[in-house]
Amino acid sequence: MEAGILLTSSPFIFTQDNLKKIAAYKAVQYVESGMVLGLGTGFTAKHVVDRIGELLRQGKLKDIIGIPTSKKTHEHALSLGIPLSDLNSHPVVDLAIDGADEVNPFLNLVRGRGGCLLREKMVESACKKFIVDESKLVNCIGGSGLAMLVEVIQFCWKFTAERLRRLFEEAGCVAKLRTFGEKEEPFVTDNGNFIVDLYFKRSIGDLKGASNAILQVAGVVEHRMFLDMATTVIVAGELGLTVKNK
Ligand code: 5RP
Repeated sequence: MEAGILLTSSPFIFTQDNLKKIAAYKAVQYVESGMVLGLGTGFTAKHVVDRIGELLRQGKLKDIIGIPTSKKTHEHALSLGIPLSDLNSHPVVDLAIDGADEVNPFLNLVRGRGGCLLREKMVESACKKFIVDESKLVNCIGGSGLAMLVEVIQFCWKFTAERLRRLFEEAGCVAKLRTFGEKEEPFVTDNGNFIVDLYFKRSIGDLKGASNAILQVAGVVEHRMFLDMATTVIVAGELGLTVKNK
């Protein structure tokens, strides 16, 4: 048989997970040996952790210390042999890579759909930030109808939820305790708190004002808006990768 070129037909299918993986691999190119690295949570971040584990195994990366943003990521990274630490021992994080649920043109984000917003915010506010995700670009945060998650302490959560609802009464706010399973048991965060989901019928307008107002309610631990935190956002779409810098 004549030597020739073999062409395989395996068209790449752009599933959402493929796009997350493409963006994740691009983000990992910013990782250098010796870095203390914030490890995010979610499907995009899982691809990041997988890739870092792979590069460590291949000896292409060395001396990485990971700071996980959730118990889930902690377990996953540990299973891949990534050395881990925390902010007490490593208060300076060189780079954090994580996904996002919405990204506006100013690189303000909403994150934490999985309920890990507090640890994510702690880790990602301690470093040069770097957030990766696929096409979740929006013109207006909250515009895609996502709930505004607020982590609240369990003590008198109904009282806290009602105070939050009243803050945004003009935006037609409805506050619901996050539950899981058929028995609708309260969802408990990694930090032992509850999550109150705020749904709005109308725009809440000024994000910074909303952020400050939420944080001033006693019983609130954190919310999911990440304002002025991301320095770089990588977006993977069917037409390729876009890197947006602040
Ligand atoms: C989890 C997060 C995730 O990063 C965010 O929800 C995006 O998730 P995914 O990469 O699975 O789409 O903040 O708490």
